[in-house]
Amino acid sequence: MATTLMLRKSLKSLAGTDEGGPHGLRRSLSAFSIVAMGVGAIIGAGIFVLTGTAAANYAGPSVVLSFVLAAIACAFVGLCYAELAALMPVSGSSYTYTYATLGEFCAWLIGWDLILEYAMGAATVSVGWSGYVVSLLRDIGIHLPPQLTNATGAVVKLADGGEAVGVFNLPAALIVLALTFMLARGTRESARVNNIMVVVKLAVVISFVAIGAFYVDTSHWRPFVPENQGEFGEFGWSGVLRGAAVVFFAYIGFDAVSTAAQEAIRPQRDMPIGILGSLVVCALLYVGVSAVLTGIVPFPELNVPDPIAKAVDMIGLGWFSTLIKIGAIAGLTTVMLVLLYGQTRIFYTMSTDGLLPPLFSRIHPRFGTPFISQIVVGSVVALAAGFLPVSILGEMVSIGTLFAFILVCAAVLYLRRTEATVHRPFRTPGAPLVPIIGILLCLTLMAGLPLDTWLRLLIWMAIGVAIYFGYGHRHSTVQREAA
Ligand code: ALA
Repeated sequence: MATTLMLRKSLKSLAGTDEGGPHGLRRSLSAFSIVAMGVGAIIGAGIFVLTGTAAANYAGPSVVLSFVLAAIACAFVGLCYAELAALMPVSGSSYTYTYATLGEFCAWLIGWDLILEYAMGAATVSVGWSGYVVSLLRDIGIHLPPQLTNATGAVVKLADGGEAVGVFNLPAALIVLALTFMLARGTRESARVNNIMVVVKLAVVISFVAIGAFYVDTSHWRPFVPENQGEFGEFGWSGVLRGAAVVFFAYIGFDAVSTAAQEAIRPQRDMPIGILGSLVVCALLYVGVSAVLTGIVPFPELNVPDPIAKAVDMIGLGWFSTLIKIGAIAGLTTVMLVLLYGQTRIFYTMSTDGLLPPLFSRIHPRFGTPFISQIVVGSVVALAAGFLPVSILGEMVSIGTLFAFILVCAAVLYLRRTEATVHRPFRTPGAPLVPIIGILLCLTLMAGLPLDTWLRLLIWMAIGVAIYFGYGHRHSTVQREAA
């Protein structure tokens, strides 16, 4: 049967790649290392930026509950990821899993959809990076014109009471181009630099909670769930749901943990601990940060690109504010690198499957990187980062990723029926219930997102379907082999 063939082909090709087959890599990762890896990949713009957006626009102090809800959904999906990752230990994108299980068309849909997670995700994080850089520069007396640090058409209130309208977010676009240049030349962050950045990031987040807790004014938490404003999603319980769909972004990255399946010492035990452990650590940190943040700053004032810095500025600890900003900038840079890198590697696989033109798998002879793809991706991301506001970007990332997660859960269900006997180093416990609950929770979060975001997703997917039938369907390796 087609699925069996695809799955076998995928497993066979893995055995011969540099990424290592099931026996190619040393099983050296403990559950603790996997948790540390996950925390490093997860913490980024979600907590440093979107907490403020979600609190100010949708949930108020109850953004704390939004974080809990999003974490529960991620936990169910994470267990499904662990099963597929252990079964197909490749660079772990849901594109690969879907290709091997649900076939080419579904895989294309996922690949196209993943552009929202990776490319748009990188744009979202770069807007956050820009916010913290602008704020840090302001501290040392350098004032960048607001027209060049905000999305096109964004209205910004100035300190003198006036208003400015954003034209292009230049720092966001520039950092994307700089990282693109590095990645195209093959400059990779070394494991050590990455570890240092993770420690800095964690130190910043933990110290914000520890120090900020002393400055919380509990009256800012009342009412904890602000009254609904008459529209779905504008505060009240529907606001908690919409807030969860937005801050869900903060957990993206735990799926990267699943790629460690082939290097886990005891995958059956270490993968669930690694995935769920990193989710629990992040959820606790996020609950702490959002509680302290909304306790220091009245939530309507949190709709800024650097909410954590705003809170620290309000408590008046200058040195701490600078530290927070530097930590945030370092942390956001690593997340951008991972996303920009990941996007081109997914395109690379899609191109070798014939679903994208060969230029996406062309490797530079000296640098050994897919440099054209990297430059194309970087340029598009830089434009999106310059023109679009963080709220639109973040919501598109959330809806796109939730959609991909649904297919991952579906792939587990499907494969349990069609490939019941294949050996699974890790089995999702409680199947089929856990994947089904995962799907329902993702759908619930998606339902919390605004109609505009749904329409954008539908238009995006319609464009994807058109490209598939215009190009991929005719050029794919599967079709060529069948002809
Ligand atoms: N979880 C990552 C972030 O919050 C994508 O930046």
